[in-house]
Amino acid sequence: MINNWIFNLAFLLGVVGCVIAEGFYGKSEVLELNPDSFREVVLTTNYTSVVEFYAPWCGHCNNFKFGYKKAARQLKDLINVYAVNCDLQINKPLCAEYKIEGFPTVKIFRPPKYSEKDPPKSKKQVIRGFANENYNGERTAKGIVQFAQARIKNYVKRIFSDDGLKSFLRANQDKVKLILLSDSKNKPSLFLKSLAIDYLGVVDFAYFDIKNSFTKTHIKESLNLSESEIEKPTFFVYGHGDTFEGPRLFTNDITKKNLHDYLSAEFSIDPVEGPGSEKHLVLDYLKQGKKLSEIKKILRASKKEAKQKAKPENAEALRDEL
Ligand SMILES: *[C@@H]1O[C@H](CO)[C@@H](O)[C@H](O)[C@H]1NC(C)=O
Ligand SMILES: *[C@@H]1O[C@H](CO)[C@@H](O)[C@H](O)[C@H]1NC(C)=O
Repeated sequence: MINNWIFNLAFLLGVVGCVIAEGFYGKSEVLELNPDSFREVVLTTNYTSVVEFYAPWCGHCNNFKFGYKKAARQLKDLINVYAVNCDLQINKPLCAEYKIEGFPTVKIFRPPKYSEKDPPKSKKQVIRGFANENYNGERTAKGIVQFAQARIKNYVKRIFSDDGLKSFLRANQDKVKLILLSDSKNKPSLFLKSLAIDYLGVVDFAYFDIKNSFTKTHIKESLNLSESEIEKPTFFVYGHGDTFEGPRLFTNDITKKNLHDYLSAEFSIDPVEGPGSEKHLVLDYLKQGKKLSEIKKILRASKKEAKQKAKPENAEALRDEL
């Protein structure tokens, strides 16, 4: 709700979004970067990114194109997938900086782990904290997806016991908390991890395993739910200070869109990254072939406009008009 202007822009983008991105990857989920956009999207995110350094004339790159595009489709809104054309003069310093010697070279960029207790002191420190690693596995979508998936940062806590639950709820009491009840193995899913990154610093995420007997008894007793109601993965929502305490069940289908709408309507909380965030909007614009400087101008202008609209005297003027 706060970031209404993002919705308006995202909507406009959908309506007028007919610019055809050209280049090696054309209209696909693989976004081509230059040094400016690289810094903006790869080095200013809590997401792990996959970047292919390539040259359009290289045979292996052409053979890999299909698989790489497929990986990008499968990782959409979970892990961003990019490409840098090292044949372009403008990109040469970037390819040199990362010591690209052969094509294609696929690298995974991992941000430093964010800690609320000890937040980074500067942008420089964050950029220095990034790690990059070559992907040397098979050049297939499956290989890339598995590799990237294992390297996304985890901000989801696992709850094993009543004490664990209590301490999770006691920490950061001003925060909304979402706990996923799932029948998952031992690790949180890629989807859940990415959701925690979307709301990093804003909403705390945890999960517990339905097969764990503590969980079942606890949930059934405290929420008075029947077995059938906790059969499928479900979120329990705990409000913060001035809202309800919870837990409440999130009964809608678990998608980023549904959770986004819910958190926005119920708590006026918007994601920091991912669909519905300003960062995501920047990605959408870049995909349309807009320059970063242009995008920043558009964003500045619409923020200003949104602010003016929110002013009380304008509200009165609007009422007079009606
Ligand atoms: C990670 O998220 C935190 C909290 O939203 C933010 O302060 C920090 O700048 C982010 N880190 C990067 C590398 O974007
Ligand atoms: C729990 O649910 C059952 C059946 O739905 C109901 O009869 C009972 O009163 C409920 N108990 C509490 C404490 O809400």
